Amino acid sequence: MDRPYTILSCAMSVDGRIDDTGPERLRLSNEADFAEIDELRAECDAILVGAGTLRADNPGLLVRSPLLRERRRERGRTAHLLKALVTRSGEFDPAARFFSTGDAGAVVYTGGAGVDTARRALADRPAADPPAEVVDAGDPPTVRAVLADLADRGVGRLLVEGGGHIHTLFLTSGLVDELRLAVAPFLVGQEDAPRFVVPGAFPQTPDAPMRLVEARALGDVAVLRYRLDRGARA
Ligand SMILES: NC(=O)c1ccc[n+]([C@@H]2O[C@H](COP(=O)([O-])OP(=O)(O)OC[C@H]3O[C@@H](n4cnc5c(N)ncnc54)[C@H](OP(=O)(O)O)[C@@H]3O)[C@@H](O)[C@H]2O)c1
Repeated sequence: MDRPYTILSCAMSVDGRIDDTGPERLRLSNEADFAEIDELRAECDAILVGAGTLRADNPGLLVRSPLLRERRRERGRTAHLLKALVTRSGEFDPAARFFSTGDAGAVVYTGGAGVDTARRALADRPAADPPAEVVDAGDPPTVRAVLADLADRGVGRLLVEGGGHIHTLFLTSGLVDELRLAVAPFLVGQEDAPRFVVPGAFPQTPDAPMRLVEARALGDVAVLRYRLDRGARA
């Protein structure tokens, strides 16, 4: 299958939590790491999150550095990345920053009744907003269908930025090429705090481990990069 090179990036606590239970998003990274993530974004063509992250954080998913945006433009690219959302229900806030910011548009991947729900939600957006479309990627949507559609749109590199259910969906699919973890120097310790992944049948087992290609300190944040076997599963 023709698909983008897929990088999954996540910041977590030492106890594997990607947020706490409070209303504000927990800061699990430092400035140096944020700057690296911005560079990573700028090297990619599309950025993908799940509907849970949209609801919890209302992220813009933009390239923050003006210099990096300028470099992208010089190479004939949009300043920001194409945004991709994965949702079963098709329920999201069409006024979210995800849809109203950036210059490359957005694609919502859903399936079944979610398709009509999502199309209705997007119908009344302001005309000045970047374009957004809904793609039926199966019921429930599959990673394979999402990646095939992104490849058709010319996406060569995809950055997956959460949350835990989407990490699980992608990692269990066997269609992730690289994993970048930033590990913050503390523990969250709350039973209900979101986890890096939920239980699933991961191909990255003790018998088929990932390859650690980098382990580095950015201040007190540990950056770990793993390579995963390409196409471990259909
Ligand atoms: N530290 C980090 O790097 C980082 C990054 C991103 C997010 N986060 C945190 O992660 C938390 C959100 O994580 P989350 O796990 O709740 O949400 P999520 O993974 O962003 O999204 C979950 C949603 O994805 C959809 N979904 C789940 N399974 C699916 C499947 N098999 N097929 C298609 N769609 C599926 C569902 O959407 P519908 O409900 O619409 O059907 C589900 O509610 C927040 O607290 C956020 O702050 C942390």
